[in-house]
Formats: sequence, structure tokens, C-alpha cells
Amino acid sequence: MPLVSMRQLLDEAAKGGYGVGAFNVNDMEQIQAIMAAAKETNSPVVIQASRGARAFAQDRFLFHLILAASELYPEIPIAMHQDHGNSFETCKSAIELGYTSVMMDGSLKEDGKTPSSFEENVAVTKRVVDFAHDRGVTVEGEIGVLGGVEDGHGAGGSGLEHVTDPDQAVEFAERTGVDALAIAIGTSHGAYKFTKKPDGSVLKMDVLIAIHKRLPNTHLVMHGSSSVPKDLQDVINQYGGKLKETWGVPVEEIQLGIRNGVRKINVDTDNRLAMTGAIRKVLWTQPEKFDPRDYMKPAREAMQKVVALRMTQFGQAGHAGDYAPIPIEEIAKGYADGTLATQPLVAAK
Ligand code: 13P
Repeated sequence: MPLVSMRQLLDEAAKGGYGVGAFNVNDMEQIQAIMAAAKETNSPVVIQASRGARAFAQDRFLFHLILAASELYPEIPIAMHQDHGNSFETCKSAIELGYTSVMMDGSLKEDGKTPSSFEENVAVTKRVVDFAHDRGVTVEGEIGVLGGVEDGHGAGGSGLEHVTDPDQAVEFAERTGVDALAIAIGTSHGAYKFTKKPDGSVLKMDVLIAIHKRLPNTHLVMHGSSSVPKDLQDVINQYGGKLKETWGVPVEEIQLGIRNGVRKINVDTDNRLAMTGAIRKVLWTQPEKFDPRDYMKPAREAMQKVVALRMTQFGQAGHAGDYAPIPIEEIAKGYADGTLATQPLVAAK
């Protein structure tokens, strides 16, 4: 199956009332782990690459690895997404490479660190929307600022410093025409999100619910959604790691989000933890090993297990065969004639 528009994937998820995991990748083993999990659970999926990932793997390597996934698994709808684009040029380069979706994170200035003004965010996001929609490509924007730093991108600090204002979210969605909207509700990138199991004082699900009520047709995106499970932390620490005690976003809170308009859930850290734990275990218990396959294979399997579990918990499992991909050129026409501004995509089975 050709790569699918993320808009189509998320419109279908909205119809079915489920969420879709968006998993970050840097290398072949992570892509293989995601695809094995998608096949195992029969799930559509978003595979996403940050700027850091594109630089690490080299653009064309990463693009062709994801393309290989779509060739090898024709039954699985895959949207290829740029995570946290920092500028119009970053998004344009992803679109020209063949990504079917981009995130323009205009909540930060181009340095990827300094919070921007509302007007700056609207201007750069709208510019990306115009360029992307002309080509049938989906756009995710961000309003409010997440905490933490990932791959050098992020304002740092706690996730509570710039929680999204629902009035601004509505104005932002209307003025930019984004397909999906990332909001800040207290989460942050990385392993250290919360110092105890989060409650309503640090994880603002009430803000998410208020935004969904005002924007029922905009797909909401939860970033920083790793659950940072204790069992994955324990494996790392058991085999020589030094992680401090920490809490992520409980899966039941994500499921509450999914019942309230969340359609895309970003997960990176849980997969990093799973792979690192598996690699540490091999190197710690079998120090004579030196063939990378001896530790990359268990690492890949550990990530597959986490991804398959999340796919089941988010509800995307079982939905890979619900629809056929709409060609990106058709989607561009829907943006041009205005139908996609007000209506979900309707796909054939
Ligand atoms: P985690 O660090 O919680 O996995 O979040 C990843 C993310 O939001 C990528 O954009």
C-alpha cells in the first residue's frame, strides 16, 4: 500500500473512536519493530521522524527505510510524519522528500527552544498549511508549549509553564486550518515527566476536554505520552543503568483523552527504554558477545512488545483493513475545493 495521508488515518480513527500511536524512529530496527507490531495487531500506524532523527540517519536512508516498510507490509496503512518541524523550510524539505504529514511546531521559535508569540505561531503554521495542503499533505500544529527537551528540541522546564489556553486553541485552529492540533496539558518529552503518579494538578485532562468541546472536528494530539513503566525502568537499573524514579502518562489517562478527541498519541521514550534495557541485559549478562545482532534482535523484540501493547490500548488494533488509501492528489483537491475544511475524508474499503 502506498503511504497514506495522516488526515485520512486520523479521520478514520475519529470515525472508529480510537487513537493511533505515532512512534518515533531513527533506524532500521525501530521501523522493523513497529511494523512487526502493526502486523501482529493489524493496526494502521504513524511513523515519525524528528529533525534529529533525519540528521542522525541521513534523510534518504530514513525515507527509504520507511518506504521499504510500506512495500513489505502492503496491508498496513502508514503515514510518514515529520515530528516537530521548527521552520517552514524543514517542513517543505520533508514534503519534497515524500512525507505524507508534517508537524509545524510554531510554539517555539526556529531555534527550537524559545517560546514564540501567538501571532508568529499562526503566521508560520498557516504558511506550512498552504504549501502542504496544495500537495495533499497533512499538517499538525502546536499551541501551548510542552515541557522537556527531545533530540535538542524543546523549551525545557515542566509541562505546566505554558498550558494551552482553549480560546487560543480555537482561534489558532480557525486561522491556520491545521488538520491536527498538539496541545500542552502538562506532559513533557523524555523519561522525567512527573515525580509521582500524576493527578489533575499536573496533568490537565480538564483542559483537553474543554478544547475538544470547542473544537470537536480537530484531531487532538498528545505529545510526551510515554507511560515510562516501572518494569522497563527496572530492567535498565538491574543491568547497570542509573535511572531515577519517575512517572509517565498513565495509559488510562490517554484512553480518557481518546474518548475526548485525541487521535494521535506520540510515543518515543517507552521504546527507547525497552531497547536500552534489552541491550544492557545482553551486554551485562553475556560480556563475551560482540555481534550487534546478539543485542539488536532482543532490542527489536522488546520494542515490538511495547508498541503492540500500546496499539491495543489505543484501540487502533484490528483497524488496518478498514479502508483503502485515497491518493494524495485526490486529497489535495479536497483541500483546494474546501470540502476538507468542513468534512472528514470518506474512503472506500
Ligand atoms: P515521549 O518522550 O513521552 O515518548 O514523547 C515523545 C513525543 O512526544 C515525540 O514528539
